[in-house]
Amino acid sequence: MELSVNVDHVATVREARGGTQPDPVYAALVAELAGASGIVCHLREDRRHINERDVRLLREVVKTRLNLEMAATEEMVRIAREVLPDIVTLVPERRQERTTEGGLNVGQQRHYLRTVVDMLHESDIEVSLFVEPVLEQIEAALEVGADRVELHTGHYANATTSEVARQELQRLLNAAEFARTLGLRVAAGHGLTYENIVPICRIRAIEDVSIGHAIVARAIYVGFERAVRQMVELIRYGCLLPPLEG
Ligand code: PXP
Repeated sequence: MELSVNVDHVATVREARGGTQPDPVYAALVAELAGASGIVCHLREDRRHINERDVRLLREVVKTRLNLEMAATEEMVRIAREVLPDIVTLVPERRQERTTEGGLNVGQQRHYLRTVVDMLHESDIEVSLFVEPVLEQIEAALEVGADRVELHTGHYANATTSEVARQELQRLLNAAEFARTLGLRVAAGHGLTYENIVPICRIRAIEDVSIGHAIVARAIYVGFERAVRQMVELIRYGCLLPPLEG
């Protein structure tokens, strides 16, 4: 399993003062040096953290793979087709939310999403859909032509008892294996931390995790490079444990 580092919250700190530091582009380079296999950023409609300058520079400097999270809007599709990230992850977006709150409802917007996926494919961009670990959503993702799904791990991360965490892990396992059998690539993310990542590594169908907040938070104490390296090491350890089975 590989680690993709989300640098949005480096930009959040920059925007707190409206200046130029810290720079998510520097952070991306440090993350790559520390062993990250990919860089993720979310260009939101309100530009609250990442802006277009960041996305364009990240495209120039990222040597691993750049995954651009975005809403499926005309404006974002235009930007993606100019910038050409390796992957676009389509996410639902609400202005009032603090962060992405849940997966896309793919079934409800099949026609529209099919058009968006086709346009991104025309520019040779791989398309991932951020979905709940629910079989119908994964089937719908396949139907609209997605290459990948990113499973929403928020319910697992927010579990307040070990029993609920176990159930949510099981849901993620079933969803990840189902997606693989349909030929989709599988990522996971949202709310993953140093404390809850190891069981996720035991789901072998998940090939990539996207982690932002926990790494940026730890970086304040130990530095960005060390924070990324510690997550890479934990993932490596988790992958040595026996696989979870259904
Ligand atoms: N994946 C998606 C689709 C997200 O929207 C986010 C949050 O921006 C993440 C992963 C990373 O979540 P976190 O910052 O909680 O690690």
